[in-house]
Amino acid sequence: MQRLTPDQLRSHQWYGTEGLRSFSHRARTRQLGLSAEEHMGRPVIGILNTWSELNPCHIHLRERAQDVKRGVWQAGGYPVELPVMSLSESFMKPTTMLYRNLLAMETEELLRSHPVDAAVLMGGCDKTTPALIMGAISMDIPAIFVPSGPMIPGNHRGEVLGSGSDMWRYWADKQAGLVTEAEMSGVEEGIARSPGHCMTMGTASTMTSVAEVLGMTLPGAASIPAVASAHTRMAAATGRRVVEMAWEDLRPSAILTAEAYADAVTTVLALGGSTNAVIHLIAMARRSGVELTLDHFDEASRRVPVLADLRPSGAYVMEDFYLAGGLPGLLARIADLLHPGRPTVTGRSLGETLEGAGVHDDKVIRTRGNPLSEEGGLAVLRGNLAPDGAVIKHVAAEPRLLKHTGPAVVFDGHRDLMRRINDESLPITADSVLVLRGAGPRGGPGMPEHGMLPIPNRLLKMGIRDMVRISDARMSGTSYGACVLHVAPESHVGGPLALVRDGDPITLDVEGRRLSLDVPEDELARRRAAWQPPEPVFQRGYGTIFDAHILQADEGCDFDFLLGSGGAPEPDMG
Ligand code: FES
Ligand code: MG
Repeated sequence: MQRLTPDQLRSHQWYGTEGLRSFSHRARTRQLGLSAEEHMGRPVIGILNTWSELNPCHIHLRERAQDVKRGVWQAGGYPVELPVMSLSESFMKPTTMLYRNLLAMETEELLRSHPVDAAVLMGGCDKTTPALIMGAISMDIPAIFVPSGPMIPGNHRGEVLGSGSDMWRYWADKQAGLVTEAEMSGVEEGIARSPGHCMTMGTASTMTSVAEVLGMTLPGAASIPAVASAHTRMAAATGRRVVEMAWEDLRPSAILTAEAYADAVTTVLALGGSTNAVIHLIAMARRSGVELTLDHFDEASRRVPVLADLRPSGAYVMEDFYLAGGLPGLLARIADLLHPGRPTVTGRSLGETLEGAGVHDDKVIRTRGNPLSEEGGLAVLRGNLAPDGAVIKHVAAEPRLLKHTGPAVVFDGHRDLMRRINDESLPITADSVLVLRGAGPRGGPGMPEHGMLPIPNRLLKMGIRDMVRISDARMSGTSYGACVLHVAPESHVGGPLALVRDGDPITLDVEGRRLSLDVPEDELARRRAAWQPPEPVFQRGYGTIFDAHILQADEGCDFDFLLGSGGAPEPDMG
């Protein structure tokens, strides 16, 4: 393999050239407390840390960054920790999705403007993973990802609790009058018991697994619990490896090929992963210049079985998955569906990294002969209600609803939904189709996770736990139910969801991949002609950039001006 010489390192332009600028940078590095022999001629490793005191999923990343640095020093690099925006799924409002592209931009521009030869990306909580990787793709210097790792299993009186999933379940039970306040406070203390991201197969575990199968992490990294000693060792090993990647100039563009993205789609489906992965993977692929569409997901979902028996689709949580062999174990089981010859950050092929991987518990990672579900966990629906597509995770829905016609009950935005859903006078039955609009990328704004519309308390008390729900929103990867999501185009830009009225019959047919509004076309044309675009959500600030440039869900919700990579000049040292 070709290796760079020290004066071919990018950072050489900052430190090693003749002239005033290099002199000044060296003087400022003395100010940092480093002598010349500690850093001159060494690769500068930027450690992009999404640690924040309002992100419990990353609260251990400040100390974990020290482990990465240990590895970098050991391998002869010079580590510099650079804080970046944390996207805290728990606390950020209205939704972290409003800021995914902002973190991606920050990542790209921070790497571009600083003397960094290679990057360690530290994230895990939902959007942090795609955001960091999207920025690194566009900058295209060597980069490796350190997943923050899942938290240990939740527990309440001996019962295992899963992030998100069990919160929704307990909350529904509480609304139905089945659990007490005292019990709820036990759940409050037990559902998130350690640092780390959500430990169900929600968006976080799905996207860190995506990072791993894409070849952007060390093998096995994504499944290691956040507080395990193995996580610390993985962080240090990543630090050692990234220094070599800097010398090898092993960039994301060499790793993130069409085959890598195809394997990521296959893996998401075998995991029964989050619907959010559809949006993020499309966005990531488009940064890489790879054509990835909703149809790729649907095609793969028809042939890839769900093997991971993980909540919310299955029974177990991430620590069980880790102990059962983790992602390498699962990948070994579907190796015939992957492209083993493609490169990874390790310098070895994916297939080589899977040598010796195996499954130690067939209950958690099912065999091919006994899958959790024969077909993949996602279906892409089209029809006159979703001309550009919509997504449903049918493995997490009650099967009786997968072919269903019912009258619409329409809500205009989340506020309207929360105000009226329990209004006794609303004609809602178990057969109704709940419709939420004004919750898409521009209307939401930011496409919040409101797609698992609540079941009215009245129906909860009757034992109804699932209904057909349709929206232009997303839903949490830890959610479940017959929720049709990501309807595109969204209502805010005049998508057909804007034309639905209370009582209109709507048909969902997952098998036939159809979603239709059963209203005559001439009536729809009349409604379309009378439709008025809503007022813009933002009047100033970042939101106006977001509103002007955000793409629709089927295109990955990136900003139109961020697609692709490269194209920006290296900074002039003056
Ligand atoms: Fe951070 Fe779920 S809240 S991963
Ligand atoms: Mg989530």
